Amino acid sequence: MRAVRFDEYGGPEVLHLSEVEEPQAGPGQVRVRVEAFSINPMEYKIRSGSWSGGRPLAAPSGTARDVAGVIDQIGEGVSGFAVGDRVYGSASDAAAEYAALYSYAHIPDELSFTDAASLPMSIETAARTLDLVQTEPPALLLMDGAAGGVGTAAIQIALARGYEVIGTASEKNHTYLRGLGAVPTTYGAGLAERVATLTDRKIDAAIDLQGKGVLPTLINITGDPSHVITIVEFDAGPLGVQVTGGRGDVEHAWYILDEVASLIRDGKFRPGEVTVLPWTEIVRAHELLENGHTRGKIVLQVAGN
Ligand SMILES: NC(=O)c1ccc[n+]([C@@H]2O[C@H](COP(=O)([O-])OP(=O)(O)OC[C@H]3O[C@@H](n4cnc5c(N)ncnc54)[C@H](OP(=O)(O)O)[C@@H]3O)[C@@H](O)[C@H]2O)c1
Repeated sequence: MRAVRFDEYGGPEVLHLSEVEEPQAGPGQVRVRVEAFSINPMEYKIRSGSWSGGRPLAAPSGTARDVAGVIDQIGEGVSGFAVGDRVYGSASDAAAEYAALYSYAHIPDELSFTDAASLPMSIETAARTLDLVQTEPPALLLMDGAAGGVGTAAIQIALARGYEVIGTASEKNHTYLRGLGAVPTTYGAGLAERVATLTDRKIDAAIDLQGKGVLPTLINITGDPSHVITIVEFDAGPLGVQVTGGRGDVEHAWYILDEVASLIRDGKFRPGEVTVLPWTEIVRAHELLENGHTRGKIVLQVAGN
């Protein structure tokens, strides 16, 4: 089969299509014929070598986690799934014609493969982060950097849970945030003052989704560091904020795959904006994502390409 590989750390141009062995579905896994996968910032951090802590790349590496496709092989111990089912979820090397998924759920009938592929890591991160919020709905949440992949998911999951959300983005994305159900404002200097003009209420919890040095401001706005969560500043624990994710063990919230599928069936969640490219344009896709201003998600279509 064909798969995306890189043989050395570097810029997007190190990514290329190679002929490799097909993966097999291990215990508890299903293998899919990949229809589409999406990309996440973690993947360009891995590709560039910034994630590896200086360790050299030992062998050619695959890339991408988020995937949607049709099951063609069922691993030992799997129940409730059959060959031919449409599923979405997470695999180690999703940028390929076949991928073995370790976390997965059925795709609702109304959802396309490209929309389904946009979701897994973003909704998992959003759910895991919102699980750390200590104030019950209808608390008011502030999300910094809300127009990207995780923000798009976090706004909608938060609203479905009964929270209200103020989200930051550049002006061009304010209509997009409003469409998702958040009250938009601009990020950067003066955030506390702008938020104060939007609401008389206290901000119950604030989430740093982009790691742009906003933590002191969010601590100031909430008045309590334990009500601030970051998904990017992994060394920020000493500030008293909550940190989720990073290079160590992470307790993932994969229950959200089924929960979001239900919300979609009930009309309470819809994927955000999706830019679809053929997977042969993986280099361009990484360039676009690394630019740091993606609205929603970038999805690569494998089927037919
Ligand atoms: N901890 C975890 O487990 C975990 C899991 C997934 C992702 N992450 C990390 O979370 C981060 C966000 O992921 P993502 O998928 O949402 O990324 P993304 O889709 O690439 O985010 C793009 C968004 O960032 C916004 N942005 C750019 N500069 C900003 C600034 N100075 N302040 C606020 N927002 C700004 C952009 O808005 P404008 O275009 O309007 O500027 C754009 O919509 C990444 O660093 C990723 O590695 C962590």
